[in-house]
Amino acid sequence: MSILIKNGRIITATDDYVADIFIEGETISAIGKNLKVNADTEIDATGKLVMPGGIDPHVHLDMPFMGTSSSDNYETGTRAALFGGTTMVIDFILQKQGKSLQSALEEWKGRSDNNAVGDYSFHMAVTDFNNDTKKEIQHFIEEEGITSFKTFMAYKGALMIDDSQMIGLMQEVKKHGGLINVHATNGDMIDFLIAKHRAEGKLSPLYHYLSQPEVTESEASGRFTDMANYTGCPGYIVHLTCEGALNAVRDATKRNQNVFVETCIQYLILDASLYEQNFEGAKWVMSPPLREKKDQETLWAGLNQGLVNVVATDHCPFMWEQKLIGVDDFSKIPNGHPAVENRMELLFSEGVNKGKISLNKYVEVACTNAAKIFGMFPKKGTIAVGSDADIILFDANEKHTLSAKTHHMNVDYSGYEGWELTGKVKTVLLRGQVVIDNNECKVAKGYGRFIKRNKVEGKI
Ligand code: URP
Ligand code: ZN
Ligand code: ZN
Ligand code: ZN
Repeated sequence: MSILIKNGRIITATDDYVADIFIEGETISAIGKNLKVNADTEIDATGKLVMPGGIDPHVHLDMPFMGTSSSDNYETGTRAALFGGTTMVIDFILQKQGKSLQSALEEWKGRSDNNAVGDYSFHMAVTDFNNDTKKEIQHFIEEEGITSFKTFMAYKGALMIDDSQMIGLMQEVKKHGGLINVHATNGDMIDFLIAKHRAEGKLSPLYHYLSQPEVTESEASGRFTDMANYTGCPGYIVHLTCEGALNAVRDATKRNQNVFVETCIQYLILDASLYEQNFEGAKWVMSPPLREKKDQETLWAGLNQGLVNVVATDHCPFMWEQKLIGVDDFSKIPNGHPAVENRMELLFSEGVNKGKISLNKYVEVACTNAAKIFGMFPKKGTIAVGSDADIILFDANEKHTLSAKTHHMNVDYSGYEGWELTGKVKTVLLRGQVVIDNNECKVAKGYGRFIKRNKVEGKI
């Protein structure tokens, strides 16, 4: 099968030009003006933006968490991602404390194998680092193609590791060419505040927010960057939300260390005033919580300064019925919100259209940097000869409205109900196959492939 995409405006992290793209099989084989080739199919992209498929390196599909499971599985989650122009996601495997990393991988494979519609990879969350776990690290990097290891500085008793485990893990991961991801918030401070609020009978979603003040994140971000600097291990802070935490990274960059920063779309465009309503605020109960408007400005600036490298989602959806588990106690509300389908269009409409970021920056933070940081570039994350033909055709002018009634995520509410956006994903190709067109998904579960990743350079 070959496809010719004609006359589109091709945007990469660095380029902006009109040309044709010739795809043979799964890869891009030529790019040029007025290509003279015989293609099985021609797609006219006149007037459209032609960009790399989005990569969302932070999603939780079918994940057992807080006594329930996130409501999108590999099929519904990766299909919804494709509808929104995201052709690849990286999900998190959670080691069970006391068990091996390998057993966690088997558990996740049981849910994901042959079920994904779009491409995916895994980060391995190390929740119990000990002499046995240590021996497994090299195998994951060199044989499984899982080169990033997630750590939690919060959720004590379930996911959190202490600083001695963190240092030990960093040394082992650095030795073999991997990277450490971190949920950087101070779990002990948060647990103290949760207990305090509960004892005072303060049980509404607002107190989820008030139990995770900015200092809990800035303290942990600083501690993490210091440990990463000490060990020389490349680090990646997930879902960074606020000025204090970004300033900790700003300081770290002065000593030329490798710390990457991810924020999520919601922290750029939503703020904590959403918690000032009754239980409705549970829709946005996530960790860390939404912050203030000033933090949004800091994050947009951070993108332009190159301090914030990636815009992900932390997609972790729960049905409203699941959110109701915490109707009488904010600390029992399953943490997370749905966004994997909305990320690319929200970032375009709120970021590019409103003049906050350039088109090239958009591609850089929504597609390219994740591929570079996580060892997949240039196979993924760009439009170039030899790259996988993961491509979206985007109408920059089409207006549409977000709603749970029309989205494809398996969740019965939207965090963005009624939002009017300008800019819509029209056609999506994944490895040379048209997977989305005319608001329809053209492939079934099983098309999505597990992508083995390379060792990381710790540089982009
Ligand atoms: O609220 C969140 N973020 N839920 C998913 C787990 C995590 O901490 O990323
Ligand atoms: Zn091995
Ligand atoms: Zn987290
Ligand atoms: Zn997460």
